[in-house]
Amino acid sequence: MDRTADVLVVGSGIAGLTFALKVAARARSVVLVTKKERAASSTNFARGGIAAVLGSDDGFRYHVQDTLVAGAGLCHPRPVEALVREGPARFAELMEWGTAFDRGEGGSLSLGREGGHSRRRIAHVGDHTGRAIETALLNAVSAEANIEVLEDHIAVDLLVTPDVAGTPVCRGAAVLDHRSGEVGRVYARFTMLATGGCGQVYLHTTNPEIATGDGIAMAFRAGARVANMEFIQFHPTALHPTEDPAFLISEALRGEGAVLRTRDGTSFMERYHALGSLAPRDVVARAIDREMRDRGEDHVVLDVSPIRPEVLRSRFPEAVQGCLDRGIDPESGIPVVPAAHYVCGGVLTDSTGHTSVAGLYATGEVACSGVHGANRLASNSLLEAVVFADRAARQVSRRLETSGRGPSDPGAGVPAPAPGNGEPDLEGITTARAELRRLMWEGVGIVRSGERMEEAEAGVASLATAEEVRWGECRWTPEGVELRNLLHVAELILRCARRRRESRGLHYVVDHPHRDNEGYLSDTVVSRGDGFPW
Ligand code: SIN
Repeated sequence: MDRTADVLVVGSGIAGLTFALKVAARARSVVLVTKKERAASSTNFARGGIAAVLGSDDGFRYHVQDTLVAGAGLCHPRPVEALVREGPARFAELMEWGTAFDRGEGGSLSLGREGGHSRRRIAHVGDHTGRAIETALLNAVSAEANIEVLEDHIAVDLLVTPDVAGTPVCRGAAVLDHRSGEVGRVYARFTMLATGGCGQVYLHTTNPEIATGDGIAMAFRAGARVANMEFIQFHPTALHPTEDPAFLISEALRGEGAVLRTRDGTSFMERYHALGSLAPRDVVARAIDREMRDRGEDHVVLDVSPIRPEVLRSRFPEAVQGCLDRGIDPESGIPVVPAAHYVCGGVLTDSTGHTSVAGLYATGEVACSGVHGANRLASNSLLEAVVFADRAARQVSRRLETSGRGPSDPGAGVPAPAPGNGEPDLEGITTARAELRRLMWEGVGIVRSGERMEEAEAGVASLATAEEVRWGECRWTPEGVELRNLLHVAELILRCARRRRESRGLHYVVDHPHRDNEGYLSDTVVSRGDGFPW
């Protein structure tokens, strides 16, 4: 069934919910589509916390500096300033919406530390911060009469048509209702993509199965510019053996003193970085990868003995229980490996979350707002989501005031989406997804080479060609929609990675092991004009 609204939000994590709550104060109607149940988002999987300048020994300049250092020369200073300076106010709103962050003696906020932070500034709720925030935001959203949440609806493609001057404008999205199999359209004046990341493009990932890069792929197909997709952050400590998704062992354990060791008990991180086990994530993930390869071992060990047992249990209940549930005694050492965790690139936006397509916004992990550069500072992602959701909501609210609410002439000139009639090949889709994830893990993982990337590119292209045929002929299914998006995102990652012939931040290529500021001190920006076959 078709719908019209002032604002369409795609995604129900921290970015989408915050934006919806804020814009609902001005918009008459907000439709929020989410592809599973509303609580299924990457936010739920965010264990560590939210970074902000909250401690008495901290200051904006330190948080800015730490963010810029982690970003390896590619952060954009203005959005970083906005992130840091507006952070404490946005953090206070999360508390007002009902997130009860942990407090220490005397009632002051308990602030943790993670890799790359020069101060304690990570506010948390045990080691399940994302879930606590998500729950509070969902409660707040259910109290808003003008936000309609459509669960089990996956956005398939954005609806883009030219305005009178010929400029392409986003007018909503085509959505597939899983339960009925019906394809409908949501027309809106403004569309916000808050679909999270794309970790599922890799064999091992901490991201939930919904993290299939939908927003990035849709925006790119709709003509939006995408940037920096080569910068994929691998979290150093996923529980070994990895499940799907991999169980994340928060970096905050290392912030409290836990130490990485090889299986024979040797501490190794001091050989790689002065900050040892608390070095920036890119350094730690590569060091673990190197140690495992050199020793022919399939994991390293996180030694938690420096943390007092009662602190371990009270501060990290999820990690402790997760280990115990799998027959691991955490106090004897936690087996860990790196896994894909976060994409620092995404849909290119300005400092209000606006993309290069009129009427289309993006915020949270789906976006490339300029704050992460070549490597995201730990726990900056929840902060980015709330700061830029707020900025986007303020801009959209202003535009609703000036241009009037309600969609103008919905559907005029918008082509109807046209799936085929054939029976979907679900087995083929599952096989292709597994093959894609293997290709990406081997071809464009923690340590890259030109040759392996080239092989992966050929493999992905052949899977994409087969999928294109299936897409044109068969009925659409959520599995098919996700596979198409994963394939497109894989091509974007490979295209960006092959363009950057240097090593910087999260992108490490053995053929070009050094930073090249002369040639590459800029974002890798791709758009449809760059010869993509789709
Ligand atoms: C963690 O707790 O280690 C993850 C936090 C993040 O990715 O920022």
